[in-house]
Amino acid sequence: MTSTHTSVPISTRSPNPVWNARLLQQRETWRTRIPADVAHEFNRHIANHSDFCDGSAPTGADLEKLPALGRFGAELRRELVVGDGLAWVGGLDAMKILPGHQRFFYAALGMSMGRAMTEYGYLYAVHDRGVDYKSEAVPVSMTREETGIHTDSSAVHSLPDLVGLLCEEPSRNGGDSLVVNALNVYWRLRVYAPEVLEILEGDFIRAIVTPGTEKNEGALLENSFPIFSCGLRQKGRTFRYMRYWIEKGQAQANRPLSDRQVAALNILDEALVSEQNLVRLCLKRGDMLWINNRTVAHGRESFVDTPGNRRQFQRMWIETSEEPIPFDREVAWAGH
Ligand SMILES: [Fe+2]
Repeated sequence: MTSTHTSVPISTRSPNPVWNARLLQQRETWRTRIPADVAHEFNRHIANHSDFCDGSAPTGADLEKLPALGRFGAELRRELVVGDGLAWVGGLDAMKILPGHQRFFYAALGMSMGRAMTEYGYLYAVHDRGVDYKSEAVPVSMTREETGIHTDSSAVHSLPDLVGLLCEEPSRNGGDSLVVNALNVYWRLRVYAPEVLEILEGDFIRAIVTPGTEKNEGALLENSFPIFSCGLRQKGRTFRYMRYWIEKGQAQANRPLSDRQVAALNILDEALVSEQNLVRLCLKRGDMLWINNRTVAHGRESFVDTPGNRRQFQRMWIETSEEPIPFDREVAWAGH
């Protein structure tokens, strides 16, 4: 990549997330709290349901009785699809509700934005299960290891449009969340290293790890798709990446990555973790982080549980059914 800097003005016309680390940290648009009317409505709803059962998923009837929450979800969805591509939502802890009710609120908010995917259950507890993803085919989310910057799901036909994280117990030893605008990386590569981008727009085989996905040679070879693509089920550009499962998948298929592919992945990784792009977020108990899983990559630092402190998040995968805004992405990037 050359170091020549071409200043490209930040466009206000483009709906794709246009930010780098500095710009995101200057903005407040993506940080919000649960509005008071949403909290009051929810408290009334659970007060009227003394039969509430911990672990039960919100139903359509629940959502109908939570119109303020539905409007808040629609606002968040807009921010995720045509705004900054992420939203950090506080205020759940301040509602002083039971953990089961917190999860119910979180799930209802997710369901107000689209269909909850159930490959891992509509809510999936992310905590250290004492397993090792390098010795068995388990998701990194079941370990305490750093995840690397990635998007969720390595399965070709399973693409969450939005990913939600609810922090139930933050770690006192690591475990910060990381986010990167993958589209900013895309534009940077397109300007400075189109030959790298060309490689990343080719297919890469991914190892099969998603539960319920068939694991045989044919399925492995079919589980192959580009890192950057355009027009995948929706208009606009999509980033799908987790390096470990690419290396594993290519090796399992006896098609190890070429030197050029490895070099391209190295350049991509370097851009993803560069100071200009990487943003670290320290979520507190009750904080929710919602991410557009097509445009904003995320990661997590390693952590260590101790007696009395077991890091736990709840994850949701949401598929949005609506066609998002028609994209005109040939516009801008946030530069350095
Ligand atoms: Fe993830």
